[in-house]
Amino acid sequence: TESTNRERIQLPAELMHRDAGRPFDPPVALDRLADTGPAVQPITQRDGDTAWLVTGYAEGRAVLADPRFSSERFTARVLDKLSPEIRARVLDPDARAGSFIFMDPPDHTRYRRLLTGQFTVRRMRQLEPRIEAIVAEHIDAMIAKGPGADLVTEFALPVPSLVICELLGVEYADRDEFQDRTAKLLALDSTLEEVFDASDNLRKFMHRLVERKRAQPTDDILSGLVHAETDTPLTDAELVGIANLLLIAGHETTANMLALGTFALLEKPDQLAALRADPALIGGAVEELLRYLAIVHLGIVRTTLEDVEISGVTIPADSTVFVSVTVANRDGRVVDDPDRLDVTRPRAPHLAFGHGIHQCLGQQLARVEMTAGFTGLLGRLPGLRLDVDPADVPLRDDMAIYGVHSLPVTWDA
Ligand code: HEM
Repeated sequence: TESTNRERIQLPAELMHRDAGRPFDPPVALDRLADTGPAVQPITQRDGDTAWLVTGYAEGRAVLADPRFSSERFTARVLDKLSPEIRARVLDPDARAGSFIFMDPPDHTRYRRLLTGQFTVRRMRQLEPRIEAIVAEHIDAMIAKGPGADLVTEFALPVPSLVICELLGVEYADRDEFQDRTAKLLALDSTLEEVFDASDNLRKFMHRLVERKRAQPTDDILSGLVHAETDTPLTDAELVGIANLLLIAGHETTANMLALGTFALLEKPDQLAALRADPALIGGAVEELLRYLAIVHLGIVRTTLEDVEISGVTIPADSTVFVSVTVANRDGRVVDDPDRLDVTRPRAPHLAFGHGIHQCLGQQLARVEMTAGFTGLLGRLPGLRLDVDPADVPLRDDMAIYGVHSLPVTWDA
């Protein structure tokens, strides 16, 4: 990971590193910048380049709603700094096809429209009981083996992975292979070569899946896309790219919300007790955990297409901009007592799912997964508690998505 991380767009380490005893709070150095600097300010990236940090909620929304901020990360300036091997991968048209999270209109618009047509209310409703069943199966397995489990490997990672299988229509016989391949992609100790290998294998898997849906459509998003009525039908490379995007955008995020969210609730006994006493609070609790944990802690990255002025500060053209969800979600101008996790508060504004044309496509699904996940864990594992010292829970603070590497828990038999 060291080698992969170094090549990626990165914040300075001190703006991601969590300080001892504050696993849920922004890094002290980031808090200091947000408190003392302007809401839009220059920072020095790890490679020495200047980037721009946006720390305010209103300013973050303004950036994400403004078409002068592009989602294309790899401009000539950034490409120049990559090793030839990585540059070739980044520019490979097959690998880029369908990855609309990194595209601007009109390309983005076309894909987003096709996808929105598939993420229907009907389909999300149909998925709900399946998600509840997947949650229940994993808790059954934990109870059968326990008490005692690593919540990350036995619950938080497999549950969203299987939900994506439902979404894409991966057959039961292929699910072990799917989970194995995605686990390798996310593994922390992988070398760059292993990551490339894993992603090539996953593409091959997705390619076979696309071919199968062409021949034999079933009731899932991938089949829907294959057979969507459109002037320019999607190519196999585009469909593979879309399937990969759904997997990558939907898996690691939801997994880390489930695990870090459980850790936070266990560390805030008053909040846990409130939620246990009134399970109907779960909807608001999920929203508050999204705000408070802000797991997309690298921030939402954009590149300026021209000089842009935001709240009196001019960001030059071709600059990398980080909208820091971590601190924007705790902006005292829009949230009272923002550093407090309060599962009973009326829904507070947040940027956990982004804003504007790229706002998370899977947010309803993610909410259903978290609601089912937390409800299942708290409802079925009495006395759920950490099985290690909280200081020993390994934090994922150098990864783009924040969370925990493992979460040993136990419960009353
Ligand atoms: C976009 C967060 C779950 C699919 C985004 C963005 C954020 C985000 C911040 C905006 C990125 C940007 O503006 O550049 C999250 C969080 C999740 C979650 C915190 C879990 C708690 C999911 C799930 C799926 C999904 C479950 C699908 C299965 C997507 C897709 C995009 C996206 C496809 C790109 C949308 C576009 O570019 O138009 N997500 N996400 N996400 N998310 Fe999620």
